[in-house]
Amino acid sequence: MSAKRRILVTSALPYANGSIHIGHMVEYIQTDIWARYQRLRGHDCRYFCADDAHGTPIMLKARELGTTPEALIEHYSAEHQRDFGGFLIGFDNYYSTHSTENRECAELIYERLRDNGHIVTRTIEQAYDEQAGLFLPDRFIKGRCPRCGAADQYGDSCEACGATYSPNELIDAVSVLSGEAPVTRSSEHLFFRLADFGELLREWTRGGHLQREIANKLDEWFEAGLQDWDISRDAPYWGFEIPDAPGKYFYVWLDAPIGYMASHKNWCAHHGEDFAAAWEPDSDTELYHFIGKDIAYFHTLFWPAMLHGAGFRMPDGVFCHGFLTVDGQKMSKSRGTFIRARTYLDHLDPEYLRYYFAAKLGPGVDDLDLNLDDFIQRVNADLVGKLVNIASRCAGFITKQFNGRLAAELVEPELYGDFVAAGERVAAAYEGRDFARAMREIMDLADRANAWIAERKPWEFAREEGREAEVQAVCSQGLNLFRVLIGYLKPVLPQTAARAEAFLQCEPLDWQRLEQPLLDHEIAKFKPLLTRIERSTIDAMLESARADLQPTGSGADDAAQADAAPPGGEPIADEITIDDFTRVDLRVARITAAEAVKGADKLLKLTLDLGSETRTVFAGIRAAYRPEELEGRLTVMVANLAPRKMRFGTSEGMVLAAGDGDEIAILSPDSGAQPGQRIR
Ligand code: MSP
Ligand code: ZN
Repeated sequence: MSAKRRILVTSALPYANGSIHIGHMVEYIQTDIWARYQRLRGHDCRYFCADDAHGTPIMLKARELGTTPEALIEHYSAEHQRDFGGFLIGFDNYYSTHSTENRECAELIYERLRDNGHIVTRTIEQAYDEQAGLFLPDRFIKGRCPRCGAADQYGDSCEACGATYSPNELIDAVSVLSGEAPVTRSSEHLFFRLADFGELLREWTRGGHLQREIANKLDEWFEAGLQDWDISRDAPYWGFEIPDAPGKYFYVWLDAPIGYMASHKNWCAHHGEDFAAAWEPDSDTELYHFIGKDIAYFHTLFWPAMLHGAGFRMPDGVFCHGFLTVDGQKMSKSRGTFIRARTYLDHLDPEYLRYYFAAKLGPGVDDLDLNLDDFIQRVNADLVGKLVNIASRCAGFITKQFNGRLAAELVEPELYGDFVAAGERVAAAYEGRDFARAMREIMDLADRANAWIAERKPWEFAREEGREAEVQAVCSQGLNLFRVLIGYLKPVLPQTAARAEAFLQCEPLDWQRLEQPLLDHEIAKFKPLLTRIERSTIDAMLESARADLQPTGSGADDAAQADAAPPGGEPIADEITIDDFTRVDLRVARITAAEAVKGADKLLKLTLDLGSETRTVFAGIRAAYRPEELEGRLTVMVANLAPRKMRFGTSEGMVLAAGDGDEIAILSPDSGAQPGQRIR
């Protein structure tokens, strides 16, 4: 294996004013698979992300909800992290662009660019809403297209004819905020002189850092000429004030990519790692950004130029992916195919979608379709029918007839050797982000394994005397082939891989360990690793998605779409029966002890007295309570929740509380309730 690489990877930072949906998940799943793959190859690969917390839409949305931008971004940060956790996205750090580190990095980069002569000031004319008292971003102005006359078009482009223009060209323009015609006001803005980096960027573009399609697109942009980039916005604005320009703020897209650095910097500070070294121009740490193709311009021109102009290294790669459609069409609320991450997770296993996306993701920028029938078919056929089937066919015999012991030798070491050798092809496909090819290679191997077992039919002679060794040999070989396949799928199916490791009672799988088969080794009893998807589950999910009428922010700063469930205003969940309700065992509990958890600034560790027994529960309520004020008080807990293993210990239940973020109120019964009493 090659020398240990140090790799930093990022996914784009989602806007902190809307929920994550399954379209976003293409990117986070793609990046997570790649990062996990690198770690399984023995490299030091770290994955960073954050919420993109600034800009006009966030400011206005907070106003509209009667809350502060701080509270709003706090709400979405918590929600985003829960959703990403649900999809097994293994960030090393998930941070925020509204952070001290980001302010420092943004100021530093700006000051260096300014001192190197790359910032200029110019007075520009801009649409101003007198009633709302602010300059209007293009997307907050609507009117008729100057080219085709279509009504109700945004200030930057026409959805009917595709024309792009500036807002003052719109006919009968009005502000989306007040409905009034905007006036023109002039104001001084700061610009970044992108053209100073023309030569550098042309060279970098052709230096193998980009996909061919994107490099070609860049050539078009070079042809059109590199324009100065407006990096300032006037107050009122939600962002960082520019150090030497009071009343002016960094445009959200200036500090957004700097959020990658800030997230890394924050992590380095907590892990004793060298932040500066990774960002030096000659650094041997590799840096890769995964993004959607809609934001390529920012990442392939502005961002590398900003980094270079400020004396930092440039990225080694910027990898774009295409957009997700559902059943062949853009996700749509009316069709019920606008599926939030949470809605999916309420119904389906995250690994199904991880596998399906992997099976469809190539190295290019093509859009990909989630065809729901194909999704069911693919997951059931590949994961359940092919993969898990190998283990379920072999495991029973080993357990029942051989006390769980695998044979001491492989009957067909060449076959095993073929599977190990295929690991290099699978690895190359992962490395090149051709996950679809990796999945095909793996499923071809699964077919071979199944065919090999089917030819030998251990189930036919399992009970015949004198053929025991043969049964053990076939099943041991089968389980060893299964182990290799699970190892190759581990970047995609980390949870199933963990379950398989527990079943095989083997060391955590990685490419290296797969070279050695498991021989004369005891395995545990087989439990189903993954179950089939039923069409009814998909229908139930679509039903929830349809019911989930609150729209969510989905794309680039789109004011119309950028709104989601307000804090405290979540829609009522699906109806349940009384039987569903009584399955939840709610009990009165006394908090006998409460303490902070080191390394988890959201959690308190609670000791709960249930009358007949004591439970330990980790509750995310630290923002709202000091431990000492909780001790002695009564509350309500879910007593029959499956224990959950956390980094700090096992949580044996859940305490009921209202709200989330900073506003948390735990429930308590009226006086007279006794610890242990059931709540009905
Ligand atoms: N905040 C910016 C990114 C700043 S990065 C310094 C942004 N946020 S976003 O929430 O709109 O999108 C986050 C990522 O999700 C982007 O890379 C975007 O391309 C991707 N996707 C959003 N919708 C998507 C689909 N329907 N399909 C695939 N990817 C999608 O842009
Ligand atoms: Zn038009």
